[in-house]
Amino acid sequence: MKLQLTHHLDGIDWHWLAQVFERAPLGGRDPALLEMSFRNSQVCCFAHIDGVLVGAGRALSDRVLWTVIYDVALLPEHQGKGLGKAIMDSLAEQAGAAQVMLYAAPGKEPFYAKLGFRAMKTAMAKFADTERAQARGLIE
Ligand SMILES: CC(C)(COP(=O)(O)OP(=O)(O)OC[C@H]1O[C@@H](n2cnc3c(N)ncnc32)[C@H](O)[C@@H]1OP(=O)(O)O)[C@@H](O)C(=O)NCCC(=O)NCCS
Repeated sequence: MKLQLTHHLDGIDWHWLAQVFERAPLGGRDPALLEMSFRNSQVCCFAHIDGVLVGAGRALSDRVLWTVIYDVALLPEHQGKGLGKAIMDSLAEQAGAAQVMLYAAPGKEPFYAKLGFRAMKTAMAKFADTERAQARGLIE
């Protein structure tokens, strides 16, 4: 098994990545919107095993003070082997800012806690679909 982490968008199959997200699971994604969100992110990380795209993550960053990480997901058969940590470390390193913020999918908080993240007391968000965010357990 040969792991390769890449940071460029050349050759990414966005339909395949949408399937990775769906299977992870991290929800259904429109491949065109998924591509746009990765293209508009300063830092992207793609995990390939033996040449096959198995996971990814992306970040917005001012490259000085704050990086915000989104959309870290792996195919189920490649979870629990340290790849999520590798993607997170790579995103933070590539972004190069002093501080990193994110919101966890409900139940995934222990993964981020292992990486040193702590729950914020004052974080707030305005989601496009408030009711859906409430139903997913993301906001009060
Ligand atoms: C969450 C996810 C990215 C984690 O990646 P991963 O490769 O499975 O995690 P790793 O193997 O790198 O785990 C790193 C550490 O966190 C721990 N960990 C990982 N997931 C965990 C969980 N759900 N609960 C508790 N601990 C967890 C691991 O045991 C490991 O601990 P160790 O260093 O003591 O061995 C991956 O499971 C995934 O894609 N899940 C589905 C999509 C999703 O929910 N993404 C997160 C969106 S916020």
